[in-house]
Amino acid sequence: MKINKIIFGADYFPEQWPEDVWHDDIRLMKQANVNMVSLAIFAWALLQPDKNTFTFDWLDNIMDLLADNDIDVCLGTATAAQPNWLTQKYDDILFVRESGQRVVPGSRQTYCINSPSYRKAVRRLVKEMALHYKGHRALKLWHINNEYANKNSMCFCKNCEHRFQAWLKKKYGTLDSLNDCWGTVFWGEKYFAWEQINTPMASAGGRNGAKLLDYKRFLSESFYTLYMEEVNVLREITPDVPITTNFEGDWSKFDHSLFKDDLDVVSWNSYPNPLEPNARRRAALRHSMMRSLLGKPFMLMEQAPSQVDWYPINVNKRPGQMRLWSYQAIAHGSDSVMFFQWRASKRGTEKYHSGMVPHYGEEARVFREIASLGGELTKLQDIVGSTIDASVAILMDNDAWWTVDSPYGTGGKSLDNEIFWASNTQPFPTVLLSYLGELEHYFNAFYRLNVPVDVIPAHYDFSKYKIVIAPLLHLIKPGFKEAVEAFVTNGGTFVATYFSGFVDEHVGVFLNGYVGPLTDVLGVKVEEYDPLPLNGSNRIKMIAGLDGFENEYACSVWCDIAHATTTKTLATFGDDYFAGAPCVTENEFGAGKAYYIATRPDADFMHDFVCKILADQNIEIHLLPEGVEHVTRQQNKHKFEFYLNHGNNDVEVQLSQGKYKDLLTQTSHESILRLARHGVSILRRLNDYGT
Ligand code: GLA
Ligand code: ZN
Repeated sequence: MKINKIIFGADYFPEQWPEDVWHDDIRLMKQANVNMVSLAIFAWALLQPDKNTFTFDWLDNIMDLLADNDIDVCLGTATAAQPNWLTQKYDDILFVRESGQRVVPGSRQTYCINSPSYRKAVRRLVKEMALHYKGHRALKLWHINNEYANKNSMCFCKNCEHRFQAWLKKKYGTLDSLNDCWGTVFWGEKYFAWEQINTPMASAGGRNGAKLLDYKRFLSESFYTLYMEEVNVLREITPDVPITTNFEGDWSKFDHSLFKDDLDVVSWNSYPNPLEPNARRRAALRHSMMRSLLGKPFMLMEQAPSQVDWYPINVNKRPGQMRLWSYQAIAHGSDSVMFFQWRASKRGTEKYHSGMVPHYGEEARVFREIASLGGELTKLQDIVGSTIDASVAILMDNDAWWTVDSPYGTGGKSLDNEIFWASNTQPFPTVLLSYLGELEHYFNAFYRLNVPVDVIPAHYDFSKYKIVIAPLLHLIKPGFKEAVEAFVTNGGTFVATYFSGFVDEHVGVFLNGYVGPLTDVLGVKVEEYDPLPLNGSNRIKMIAGLDGFENEYACSVWCDIAHATTTKTLATFGDDYFAGAPCVTENEFGAGKAYYIATRPDADFMHDFVCKILADQNIEIHLLPEGVEHVTRQQNKHKFEFYLNHGNNDVEVQLSQGKYKDLLTQTSHESILRLARHGVSILRRLNDYGT
């Protein structure tokens, strides 16, 4: 996408307001330096009030008005909320829950992603829109649908069932192969005809994990094929207009990497809860995931100007916090700061959600902060397109995720159209595992040291990194063993954790020692596993004389009981019948090292361990005062160093030698940088000539 400014704007719903308000909107947008708005996201019913009528007049008017005022449009394809006439006309539109109940109309995202009637209507609407707006001056970006899978991530209707059967036929070829891979000899589940294979709805008891996993893969691909229904139409009619879809940010709902070759820019919606102490770390992880999907700048498509209305308690962003979090997104690779929404709604479901223009109007604190941020961002065009150079990657794998997670581990979420792929669907060792939680645990250790981390799908090429961490890689697919072995042979540092390499891509257990395909590179074999009780712990006892480590640390959640084959033991378990068994190991393999961590260590261990592997690979760390975050974006020879003070106090940061210019204040800095609470500095190092 060729836009050489930081994009600043919002979801804009002029259809909720009389036209005289539109002129006020434009005046305030100009005042706030808004340069792009997303339109029509939920406007299907207005654009197509019945099967044969399309009405674009109101949208034409606002598109023209925006264009006259140099405000670009990211045009929604309006497909996230289908009109009532469509829902009523066809009986296959509404999705079916895991219990077999069809969802009732009355909200958005009630459609089944595989409904032929929905898909046909989508193609038609998108074609009409593309033909109508082709060449429009304001149209700069297509915004497909809205937050795929937010509410309709799982459907169990008959259309989905038939498509699933066809998908399986293509994948397995024969029923023998399917029965074998799924282990259907167990409990007499054997299928003798494709038509016998139903969707894995709630049944009498535990379900077949291989079938559950395939169903999740099938639905994941269905999201992608649905997206492509729109992409194909748009590419044909408006080949020069880039395309995005705004991700919700929950990777567990579908495999986002399927979209990778068909997205011009990744965009996502970030809604950290200001009440949550970990909010900034969680946001940093998610920004890193989004950036890493294409390895280039992404768009922050939505965030709240102040409070949202869907946490149990929705506190405001404190003065300065919206600005700080906006810069955090930019620091991690966003080239935009956009909001939901422009003007807080007067009526409707989300009237208590903040807007850039609050109910109080332009005199409100929130609008003043917004306008001031918009002004500042106009100074940052040099940053656009710059990237983050990470030497560390954390691997994430949807298949592993779907076979590990549990309702408790994911924070007790219980939307009833979601399947949790663990104890509530199939018998499983513990409900205390959290795939994302484990990724966060590792990410946090690097984050505390201000070391940038890419979070990439496990099947991406990771050979360019120096350190690769694969937390909870329960399921391992063909090819991974070879990729890891080549990486370590060439000098890389690889880290695997407990409950890794237990099953293959069909959830079949690797026999003769878990870690399966990772046995050679890690130099261990796991004989038994022992989940710890809630709040239970064991001890990690380090071997004597290891520099940079305490004598012992605490661990929780899980213990793998392993045998070291070729590896060196760095720590053993301290308690229980397996006291003395290896807990942390280091295996030299070619020019590199592979580590195995048989449990969930406490944060102190994580810190010391990560310091060690970073030092071994000569990767720079930045120890900064509590609450200060540092990220560097770079482009050509320029480095833009972001310092963000998330703490509650004013702080002083020691800068490394050199002279710096702050892009926001145009002031110069040397040696010491002072940051107020919620303060932000973006420093560019000056050369010997002071430029
Ligand atoms: C999501 C949706 C928006 C809006 C916001 C509210 O991100 O995409 O339409 O509902 O949540 O926080
Ligand atoms: Zn369906």
